[in-house]
Amino acid sequence: MVTTSGLRVGIVGAGTIAELHVAAARQLASQVKVVAVCDVRADAAEKLAAEAGARVYTDHLAMFAAGGLDAVVITVPHALHAPITLDAAAAGLHVLLEKPIATRHEDGVRMIEACRAAGVTFAVGHVLRFVPTLRAAAGYLASGAVGEVMVASERRTADYTDASRPRWFLDPEMAGGGIVLNVGTHSIDKLQMLVGSPVTHVTGHVAARPGVAVETEAVALLRHADGTRATLSVTGTGLPFTDETEIVCAEGAVRISRGEGVWSFRGGVATQIAAPESGEMNRAFAAQLADFARACEEGAVPLVTPEYALGVLGTALALYESGRTGGVVAVEGRAVKEEM
Ligand SMILES: NC(=O)c1ccc[n+]([C@@H]2O[C@H](COP(=O)([O-])OP(=O)(O)OC[C@H]3O[C@@H](n4cnc5c(N)ncnc54)[C@H](O)[C@@H]3O)[C@@H](O)[C@H]2O)c1
Repeated sequence: MVTTSGLRVGIVGAGTIAELHVAAARQLASQVKVVAVCDVRADAAEKLAAEAGARVYTDHLAMFAAGGLDAVVITVPHALHAPITLDAAAAGLHVLLEKPIATRHEDGVRMIEACRAAGVTFAVGHVLRFVPTLRAAAGYLASGAVGEVMVASERRTADYTDASRPRWFLDPEMAGGGIVLNVGTHSIDKLQMLVGSPVTHVTGHVAARPGVAVETEAVALLRHADGTRATLSVTGTGLPFTDETEIVCAEGAVRISRGEGVWSFRGGVATQIAAPESGEMNRAFAAQLADFARACEEGAVPLVTPEYALGVLGTALALYESGRTGGVVAVEGRAVKEEM
């Protein structure tokens, strides 16, 4: 039950992204309060807890057992998403879990069933759904201003090296995969949001830089349920930062990039639909947390459901499977007979 003083939240995993969740709670002071922080690294838990004025734990079960929580935000390495979510559901806590939902489809199913049985809200942090410029682009495309979507391309780079991120990201056991599961899941979500249709089939290829145990590069052709084909490229080596999507429609095209915002091209005329916004990720994290708090309070469905997140995971796993077999792979739970 959510008290009148707002949603009392515990954070599990006081790493990089947890900072953004705590900052989001600060923006929603009357609705959400971070009251406890847990990390196996006591110093990390203490530092973040001090920022939030929260209690400190090094064991999430001890934090859950201590009581005084309505919900948890889980921001730990990917392989721990399932066990800690199951523990939270067993403790009757609502869950906002960072992406990807899990590393294996069957774990995601178990998590959804456990949260449903416990009657707790379960949302997954596909935060791009809350980014103002992407929402503007999706709204513009859905309005039909440039006609039906025909093809799309998504291109994203990330520095995928030991020096640039905590070690577990390059450990297949803890991360469950490499750049596809980590960054590619954002790209898949973004394409589905902009095309307005889920991916059903994937042909893909992955590659790992020598000496790295997870894939650092991937290319894929995605087929959406509405027939749109999209190319996806996630690159972890060498290239400068790029985050760019192009959606080509029957009467024009839309380009979305982190640096230039959203532009429409129609009949030789370029029009800016949304300017790039500094600090928009902070606003997106606050909007995500506000949506989660509302869902907990009203027993409503959050914007990003775990069932949706399971489809994103399924698409990433289909890309891996296609990389192994060389064939077209249907996304689990979305099997359609037609070929690519
Ligand atoms: N939405 C986004 O834009 C975004 C961006 C970055 C990361 N992420 C996701 O957030 C999650 C965390 O990523 P990160 O970059 O913050 O990683 P991180 O390594 O910085 O933080 C993870 C934290 O979890 C802690 N931890 C490990 N095992 C634990 C346990 N059993 N109990 C409690 N704490 C434990 C680690 O000590 C570490 O402090 C991942 O799922 C990642 O994919 C999302």
